[in-house]
Formats: sequence, C-alpha cells, structure tokens
Amino acid sequence: MTVTTTSGGTATSPDSAPLLSLRKVNKSFGAVDVLKDVDLDVRLGRVTALVGDNGAGKSTLIKGIAGIYGFDSGEYLWEGQPVTVGHPKDANALGIEVVYQDLALCDNLDIVQNMFLGREEKSAAVLDEITMEERAKETLAGLSVRTVKSVRQKVASLSGGQRQTVAIARAVLWNSKLVILDEPTAALGVAQTEQVLRLVRALADNGLAVILISHNMNDVLAVADDIAVLYLGRRTAHVEAKDITHSQVVELITGGGAAPASMTSAAADEPGVEGDAS
Ligand SMILES: Nc1ncnc2c1ncn2[C@@H]1O[C@H](COP(=O)(O)OP(=O)(O)O)[C@@H](O)[C@H]1O
Ligand SMILES: [Mg+2]
Repeated sequence: MTVTTTSGGTATSPDSAPLLSLRKVNKSFGAVDVLKDVDLDVRLGRVTALVGDNGAGKSTLIKGIAGIYGFDSGEYLWEGQPVTVGHPKDANALGIEVVYQDLALCDNLDIVQNMFLGREEKSAAVLDEITMEERAKETLAGLSVRTVKSVRQKVASLSGGQRQTVAIARAVLWNSKLVILDEPTAALGVAQTEQVLRLVRALADNGLAVILISHNMNDVLAVADDIAVLYLGRRTAHVEAKDITHSQVVELITGGGAAPASMTSAAADEPGVEGDAS
C-alpha cells in the first residue's frame, strides 16, 4: 500500500476543538449493555479510525451518532454545544453523512442522478441538468477522482471502488462536516482500496472530519490521524496513529495490549487498558 499519509502534516492539530464529542454515552438492547460510558472526540481535518473486534459496538456507536437510534444516556456535543440527535434528519441537518457498507446507490441511474438523488436542484421548476452535471464533475475533480470516465455512466457499470467514490463524493457535495465510512474497503481489491483510501485522506485534507471503521490495520495506519479502540463496548484507547505500531493496535483490539507511554491521558486513565482486560 503506497497511500501517503499526511498525519501530523496538513491534518489539524490534535488539540483543536472537536467537531463532535461524545461523553459517557451508553446504549443497551434489552439486558445487553452494548456501549458503556463511551467518550469520543472527532476533529475537522482529521481521520479518526474506529477499531474493535466484531461485536465491540462500532456500528452501534455510529448509528447513535447518525441518529438511527438515540443513546440511552450521555452527552452528544456538536461544535461544543449539546444537541439532541434522535433521528437521521437531525444528523443530516448538522452535516453528518454516513456511507454504509451496502451503498444506497441506484444502479439504474447515472452518477449525476445518484449524487443529487432526493435533492435535485430546481431552477424554475425544471431540473437544471447542466448545473447538476457541472457540480458533480467539480466535486469529483476536487477529490482528484480521475477514474470515472463520464458522470453520465450508469452506476451499475461501475466497479466497487468507483461506487464508493460516488457515495463519498455525494457526501462532499452536500457540504457535510463529518463523513462516516463503515468498512469502505471490505469488498475491494488492492488497487480499488488504494483509490478509496486516497479519497478518505482527501476528505480530511479538504477540512472535513472523517470517522473510518475498518478491520484492516494497514488501511487504518495508512490514513488515520487518530485511532479510537472499542473493546467490549468500552472505549479503551484513543491514540494518535503516529504514536502506535500495527501490533500495538492489534493488541488493544484483542484486549491484551498495554497502552504505549505516549497515549493520550484520556486513554491512559482508563482501567482495562493496562492489562487487566487480558
Ligand atoms: N438491534 C440490536 N439488538 C440487540 N443487540 C444488538 C443490536 N445491535 C447490535 N447488537 C449487539 O451489540 C453488540 C455490538 O454490535 P455492533 O455494534 O454491531 O458491533 P461491531 O460493529 O463492533 O461489530 C453485539 O453483541 C450485537 O449482537
Ligand atoms: Mg459493525
């Protein structure tokens, strides 16, 4: 993988004010406590990788952020202010877009139509196709996407990586502030993975906040600025990617790892990181 990371380069400071902060959020399904006092800070201009084993609670956390269901307790802060996000439209209004693994694209429509689906620009009651096409092209060009031959191609004819590209570009087009990607490279080959990771990096370099869920530690270490680890529903570590090795991340995911000395205080404070979880 030759994706160049700009961690510590153009990424904003790890000390900048967070766009999104969760404080001690909890979520249970019946008797099962899935999220336990989870804290998370996400910053503009940075890719925050959310990692953890199957069942750790990653998707549940994302669904809470996206308003698919509310957290049972805890604080949800946006730009430092407490907000109530109980419905996906609340999250959309804040500028949150989620690109799900099973992409909600319409195969029978072309790229422009998919990017504007449900939000077609109207000028005097007629769809302004020229404007939509121009904005679709500009957005793809702004993300340095050169692999899509025509924005009038049907989405059915695109590769998996290109479909991800369209879904991500759609999020950018709508002036999102936070883009969440759940396993965007899970079904992709090497070249397509690299293409999507470049795009993930480009989102952050364009000033957006990105949350990336991935099982692939090479992907995570290639593009992430920050890594948040969930272990059995607890956020056991939050580290800068530059401060941690591949094997240390794996140890944290499997619950056996000790936090590296340079780990941020929020993580180092927590019990469970220093070996008692193993
Ligand atoms: N709607 C639900 N009802 C009951 N249990 C759920 C529901 N959604 C998730 N869970 C449980 O919550 C835990 C965390 O799941 P999930 O958030 O999907 O983890 P991850 O995405 O990290 O693999 C799992 O034990 C799962 O079975
Ligand atoms: Mg999941």
